[in-house]
Amino acid sequence: MNNNVFEQMAKRYDTEERMALAKVIEKEVKLELQNSKSKSLIDYGSGTGLVSLELAELVESILLVDSSKQMLEVAEAKIAQKGITNANVRYADFTKETPELKADIVFMSLVLLHIPDTTKIIQELFHILNDGGKLLIVDFDKNDNISHPKVHNGFSHDELKEKLAEVGFQSTEIRTFYHGKQIFMNQDASMFIATCNK
Ligand SMILES: C[S@@+](CC[C@H](N)C(=O)[O-])C[C@H]1O[C@@H](n2cnc3c(N)ncnc32)[C@H](O)[C@@H]1O
Repeated sequence: MNNNVFEQMAKRYDTEERMALAKVIEKEVKLELQNSKSKSLIDYGSGTGLVSLELAELVESILLVDSSKQMLEVAEAKIAQKGITNANVRYADFTKETPELKADIVFMSLVLLHIPDTTKIIQELFHILNDGGKLLIVDFDKNDNISHPKVHNGFSHDELKEKLAEVGFQSTEIRTFYHGKQIFMNQDASMFIATCNK
């Protein structure tokens, strides 16, 4: 899916269905953020912040990064409206520019499937992470019922693990945590969370 699509949908992105799915993801990610009060977190491909703005209290700071300005405008309005003091936004596409940022945790929810060169983005995110940091990826399991020219049809755990190891992650744990009806291009699908340690 190209970025224009996200620009066009930003103002109407937060549907009941997406908010419900974000809640499921939030619950799972919170389990990974215990004892993270002193950590900095980057939410890469944050969209409107549906998930990460609910994580602000668990970490020291959150930077929402997205390649859609309009998604970030919605996120900024929410940050102001909720009075969140430790969250900021940044417009960027790390597949096109090498970022000068560092973080203890990088979180990426339902973004990898939209990025054609998955190795490149994983490499960039690896470099952003401080030593001992972790990358949390939430995405869909491989789904052969789905075929789209611009979207990966999910990911196989073994292939993704291999790629993460090649990039340099010391260890990765991947587990499926949710099965839902019509959650991935109107098909029933399951989601995984990958915890990748640098
Ligand atoms: C399906 S939305 C997910 C939003 C959010 N992470 C969530 O779970 O609610 C995908 C987001 O990734 C962003 N995105 C897609 N490709 C990107 C890239 N190369 N760099 C940064 N953001 C990207 C889109 O603009 C969009 O906001």
